[in-house]
Amino acid sequence: MNLTVTALQMRFGGNVVLAGIDFDISEPQVCGLIGPNGAGKTTLTNIIDGVYRPTGGSVNLNGERVDGLPPYQIAARGFGRTFQIPRPFERMTVLENLEVPARAVRRLQPGAFEARARDALEFLTIGHLVHEHARALSGGQKKLLELGRLMMLDPDFIVLDEPFAGVHPKLREVVYGFIHRLRREGKAFMIISHDMGTIFTVSERLLVLADGKLIADGPPDQVKRDPRVIAAYLGPAEDEEGTEAVPRPIDEAFDAVAEHRREEDDAGDH
Ligand SMILES: Nc1ncnc2c1ncn2[C@@H]1O[C@H](COP(=O)(O)OP(=O)(O)O)[C@@H](O)[C@H]1O
Ligand SMILES: [Mg+2]
Repeated sequence: MNLTVTALQMRFGGNVVLAGIDFDISEPQVCGLIGPNGAGKTTLTNIIDGVYRPTGGSVNLNGERVDGLPPYQIAARGFGRTFQIPRPFERMTVLENLEVPARAVRRLQPGAFEARARDALEFLTIGHLVHEHARALSGGQKKLLELGRLMMLDPDFIVLDEPFAGVHPKLREVVYGFIHRLRREGKAFMIISHDMGTIFTVSERLLVLADGKLIADGPPDQVKRDPRVIAAYLGPAEDEEGTEAVPRPIDEAFDAVAEHRREEDDAGDH
């Protein structure tokens, strides 16, 4: 599997949102994408999945150039995503929401779709909702429904945009379980989150986007110490009085994650 983003640029009118982005993901891994609000995280994923055509640069998926292709063609090549705001078919049932897009993309025996969908919904703890209309689901349940769609489409490469935002802690555990399971199955993830604790817990690699550029790309422990990353989250290193700003908030978030990891290790988890 391979996703290669080269010299990617995106301008909206005079607003340069992405000013030359380069990275590639060429193995199963959980790659976090973080950056201050408005940094262009969602825009980047909207280009990768074909919602936007970039104003410069290219996106290659498994050796084939895909920027400019419509989203359904990119999906057919093994790319899947969820949205910051879930977009289920509100007037279809939960089961139909899983079956309809899967039938459009994959060739399975008709009976196999339903069995697969029921398995996915059970795994996501919303098996009891199969015949509910999507509109009756809570915001968190709708996010799980989108994960169910991905399980049906079985993409190699998955982007999750803020999968934890506004999700009840119990359902969050289900999202973690989903990521772990599909990662073990060999999928690559790019996960956007502004929740530092969560993203540092799940990511094996972190990309940091700020001012239209990737300012860091590496293991979370290394990224955490990168002065450019700290500065991006805290603004200039000096306040008005000229004294040095202390990088507390991001550091506290990192410490909380380290603590959480130690507890997990102690419990003999994973
Ligand atoms: N369709 C669009 N038209 C014009 N500007 C846009 C559009 N989509 C995003 N932007 C601008 O791109 C910038 C980055 O937005 P976004 O990608 O949503 O950031 P993030 O997801 O990192 O918070 C913002 O300044 C936003 O106003
Ligand atoms: Mg966003």
